[in-house]
Amino acid sequence: MKQKILILEDLCTVCGHCIEICPRDSFQIVDEKLVFDGTFCHDCGHCISICPNQALTHQYLPKEDFLLISESLPSSSFLSGEQMYFALKAIRSTRAYSKKKVEKVILSKLVDIIRFAPTGHHAQNVELVVVQTEEIIEALKRESAKAIEKFLKFINNPFLLFFAKLFSKGAQIKKAKQAKPRFTRMLNGFQEGKDYLFHGAPVIFVFHAKKNSTVPADNCNQAAAYVRIVAHAFGLGSCFIGYLIHYAKYNKKIPELLKIPPTNEIFQVLILGYPKYRFKTFVSRKPSKVDFV
Ligand SMILES: Cc1cc2nc3c(=O)[nH]c(=O)nc-3n(C[C@H](O)[C@H](O)[C@H](O)COP(=O)(O)O)c2cc1C
Repeated sequence: MKQKILILEDLCTVCGHCIEICPRDSFQIVDEKLVFDGTFCHDCGHCISICPNQALTHQYLPKEDFLLISESLPSSSFLSGEQMYFALKAIRSTRAYSKKKVEKVILSKLVDIIRFAPTGHHAQNVELVVVQTEEIIEALKRESAKAIEKFLKFINNPFLLFFAKLFSKGAQIKKAKQAKPRFTRMLNGFQEGKDYLFHGAPVIFVFHAKKNSTVPADNCNQAAAYVRIVAHAFGLGSCFIGYLIHYAKYNKKIPELLKIPPTNEIFQVLILGYPKYRFKTFVSRKPSKVDFV
């Protein structure tokens, strides 16, 4: 088998940047020449990206993925640290959407950015379902209502609660009891035709991954955060919907509707669309709880 990384010796100045940057110690200098050993290489592409002379190429990854950043993003168009700080601080969870459709070209950028979110062990295990079909959104709401009914039946049944407590699930039951009014409100909302689940958003991104793969929840969360930031830069609003993750555990019809295989689990859900209103001010939050040691 060919080595994954090809070193163009005419261009390589043996500067050692790739040696410093490689998380898997795949490079070393032997007889004043750069040598690659792919035993532990996990295809992060950092060596190619860092090389000041473009002396490295990957034999199997597409060359067009390694275009110069400066050609797409001149340094003058980078947000400054201050601008980025304020841009992120201005992002709010959006729960009122306009009827305007999200353009395909924007959706394709949001789908694409997922590939560039970090994944533990570079597992690249995040999968996505993009829901835009009204019938499926309605069906997800119906099945969520069934999940809530099931949950409320359980929490209202002293017999079942007694047995659950026996299996030392006391803390979970306390939490579930506290959640009862919220779930009741959502169920009543469904019955009154209110959308307390997806808030009328036209697009739902459902992030899922193989249950037994590498840190699937962390990786899905990273991907969703990337999507959210880019979405807001395109003028969209968004909101994470943890409720659906919860309902999917109570009602298997939900992953079925989304064609998510039983090997996989939903780890994050993000609704997207053009906001009906724009937030005008920043908001107040608790101070960061931080220690400097
Ligand atoms: C993991 C997670 C799950 C969430 N689930 C929901 C949800 O199901 N429904 C909802 O309306 N908001 C949901 N939110 C949004 C939070 O309620 C929101 O972040 C919080 O109210 C603060 O508002 P902000 O995002 O505008 O700062 C979720 C947020 C996170 C991080």
